[in-house]
Amino acid sequence: MKKLIYIDSTMREESRTRRIAEPLVFELGKRYEIERIRLDEAGFPVVGSRILNDRNNGIVPEEYAEMSRRIAAADRIVIAAPFWDMSFPSALKVFFENMSLFHITFDSDNTHCYGLCKCEKVLYITTRGMNIHTGDPLEQATPYIRALSHLWGLGTLDVISAENLDYSTPEKIDKKISDAIAEGIALCKEF
Ligand SMILES: Cc1cc2nc3c(=O)[nH]c(=O)nc-3n(C[C@H](O)[C@H](O)[C@H](O)COP(=O)(O)O)c2cc1C
Repeated sequence: MKKLIYIDSTMREESRTRRIAEPLVFELGKRYEIERIRLDEAGFPVVGSRILNDRNNGIVPEEYAEMSRRIAAADRIVIAAPFWDMSFPSALKVFFENMSLFHITFDSDNTHCYGLCKCEKVLYITTRGMNIHTGDPLEQATPYIRALSHLWGLGTLDVISAENLDYSTPEKIDKKISDAIAEGIALCKEF
């Protein structure tokens, strides 16, 4: 069975982003073996001088190197992350930095960097409080994920989003979430 890594970067018990993501991951679980990585309270360290020095000496925690190898070997990646401060939670950036390892997710020769990942499709699921659409210059999560996909060689990116949720009635929120799930389920058939 092909492998899918689900990076759950939702941070609230009642997360609306997770309400959209879970049925989509369930649907994808019919065709993929799912590995879930839950970032809330996972405690990935900020990459600073100590970690860089270790890396320069060839030291990377085996647990992280192994996880990075699984990401590089995954056929699909799904990311669920709420829209925070015009992007995604920093826990996700910290996770990416810990997983972004030379000779595993990317490599370089004398002229350029290139991705080493097998993944051909990434699905990014989000909800936004304000009325900001995917592709709006104020929306800085999708451009970053697209750029990282380029570095790692992850293939195409699809985005499922629900917007203006902090300014919608509970009924409208439920409708936007069920619309996003329906759009996502249709997308998952080709994903
Ligand atoms: C720490 C934090 C930062 C947020 N920053 C933004 C923001 O910059 N722009 C925005 O539109 N909504 C922002 N929101 C609102 C969330 O995007 C919105 O409520 C979203 O639906 C939360 O997703 P969740 O239910 O999965 O946690 C923020 C919410 C939190 C908790």
